[in-house]
Amino acid sequence: MSRREGIIVAIDGPAGSGKSSTAKAVAQALGYRHLDSGAFYRALTFAALRAGLPPERWPELSLVELDTLAVRADPHGDGYRLQVGGRAVARELRSPEVNAHVSQMAAVPAVREWLLGALRQAGARGALVADGRDLGTVVFPEAELKLFLVCAVRERAERRLKEQGVAAPSGEQIDAEAERLVARDALDSGRAVAPLLRAPDAVLLDTTGLPFAAQVELIVRLARERGAARPSA
Ligand code: DC
Repeated sequence: MSRREGIIVAIDGPAGSGKSSTAKAVAQALGYRHLDSGAFYRALTFAALRAGLPPERWPELSLVELDTLAVRADPHGDGYRLQVGGRAVARELRSPEVNAHVSQMAAVPAVREWLLGALRQAGARGALVADGRDLGTVVFPEAELKLFLVCAVRERAERRLKEQGVAAPSGEQIDAEAERLVARDALDSGRAVAPLLRAPDAVLLDTTGLPFAAQVELIVRLARERGAARPSA
């Protein structure tokens, strides 16, 4: 058996289901590292757009070409720092342009192969809370705790808009964002490689109307039941 410092908690779910913020808070409570796998796909998308590679060409990208995009991830604090061409990227990864193109990047088989190694390496020592679309099914099928989060689409849309700084989104704004989320969900669930799927052994958690703190507490409790120790003071 490999030497593990703690269990792996894998959280999957559709866009805006609260995976990343939940995963981050759960990691903090457990004293674990947080791995936001969507950010890796976003970094590749940002890098490809910056390099002027047209999205129509992405399906043919080779592993070597992906290397030349110079995307790196290093453990940093309680998560990972992503760099593109030696420059740290964070806010850039949430731009409307990256949002609009990231599903196309995530559907490219070579991209998924390229990232699989990086994501698994990040989890090799355990003590990790990872979130994405295929963490429980493909990346960490051995994870001790798997969760699949779902949430009503209008609530997800409202959360997304608030994350983007819209303090009091109007009904029309919510409807428009909900439409974009439904389109993204269809791309993420309908693609041939590693589609968004609930692992048969994942706990289904509907977060509609559930206060954030309650969600986090529930997952932390489950993680402790599956072997996560309390962080030493
Ligand atoms: O969670 P997010 O919105 O940051 O994810 C960005 C995109 O990356 C989304 O279209 C789905 C894709 N993704 C994926 O295909 N597999 C993952 N493990 C994580 C994200």
